[in-house]
Amino acid sequence: MKKILITGGAGFIGSHVVRLFVTKYPEYHIYNLDMLTYAGNLENNADIQDAPNYTFIKGDIVDAVFIDALFIEHQFEGVIHLAAESHVDRSITDPMAFVKTNVLGTVNLLNAFKTIWNNNFEGKRFYHISTDEVYGSLGAEGLFTETTAYDPNSPYSASKASSDHFVRAYGETYQLPYVLTNCSNNYGPNHFPEKLVPLFINNIINNQPLPVYGDGNYTRDWLFVIDHALAIDLVFHNGKNHQTYNIGGFNEWKNIDLVRLLCTIMDGKLGRTPGTSEQLITYVKDRPGHDLRYAIDASKINKELGWTPSVTFEQGLEKTVDWYLNNTQWLHHVTSGEYASYYKNQYE
Ligand code: NAD
Ligand code: DAU
Repeated sequence: MKKILITGGAGFIGSHVVRLFVTKYPEYHIYNLDMLTYAGNLENNADIQDAPNYTFIKGDIVDAVFIDALFIEHQFEGVIHLAAESHVDRSITDPMAFVKTNVLGTVNLLNAFKTIWNNNFEGKRFYHISTDEVYGSLGAEGLFTETTAYDPNSPYSASKASSDHFVRAYGETYQLPYVLTNCSNNYGPNHFPEKLVPLFINNIINNQPLPVYGDGNYTRDWLFVIDHALAIDLVFHNGKNHQTYNIGGFNEWKNIDLVRLLCTIMDGKLGRTPGTSEQLITYVKDRPGHDLRYAIDASKINKELGWTPSVTFEQGLEKTVDWYLNNTQWLHHVTSGEYASYYKNQYE
């Protein structure tokens, strides 16, 4: 059995990638390495936890001794690296956590992978998952391509940019066979309610204010998480070594328009009078260094690998809302404990 390590597989995107690989590839053994930070949740893996080709490992990618020993023990032939600190607002209050996990953690994985294969990389692959935020902010026009210069503006995006540079440098210096993808904003089931879409779904359910940063005219390019997982599958198997692929939904929305659409969908689902949830919209202090607009040109992955999103935004958002309304226990579990103090610090 081919041994594949997926890091961050108890988080939002990682859990969808783990599920896809465990169910689609019985010939692989999938090892899910996750430290279970506030964002990691074994409930996200509950449906596949007993699969014979699946093993969960709790551990910290920042711990080089542990990582080296793990790679020596299991001899992973493929790595799909998603573990990260992922929330921009948290990076503004605690940048060092992002440097440790996103930069040091990535370099530890690269070193361990390089050491066990000792330059004999035939048939091996290291896949680093990154973000469109490394390209900085667009004005009203234009799209991020794979050759757009890096220009990160937040501690989060700076840490991801740094990790991308290390991956590329290991490719150049040690011929480490990597692929790298930069994806736009994901949404979907299992998304921790600190990010715009799940936070607002949770607040609409609970009739709480919807805190829109600044004037709400910031633009993001939204992609359904399962379409991201399908793209990761394609790139892992068919992408070319030492290549970057941009992944995006061809789907730009201003935050305020997205929030209005969400309110309309949720009023319908919750049996509320149309317009009820929109009354919860509250404009609040802007995010420092807030990037105006992200938009991805995903034509390379489309042309070379045949990937294209499978659902429209309206379909994906409706599926997402349905998932949250059917999984109130999940929502309750992740919003008890530390969540209340995070929310208070961030919004009150
Ligand atoms: P997430 O915060 O939901 O999950 C991150 C996971 O990593 C969690 O399960 C957490 O426990 C784990 N983790 C954190 N620190 C760790 C450590 N030191 N050791 C081991 N595990 C650790 O993140 P996500 O939104 O699923 O993002 C996954 C990856 O995709 C990240 O690399 C992120 O930069 C990238 N990405 C995210 C998006 C998005 O819209 N969410 C878009 C593009 C790229
Ligand atoms: O573009 C990819 C990135 O998308 C990923 O790399 C990050 O991991 C992911 O968190 C996401 O970053 P954003 O900062 O774009 O996502 P977030 O959901 O935090 O915010 C989306 C937009 O909504 C952004 O313009 C800020 C705004 N916002 C966010 C929150 C949490 C609000 O107006 N109010 C809020 O309360």
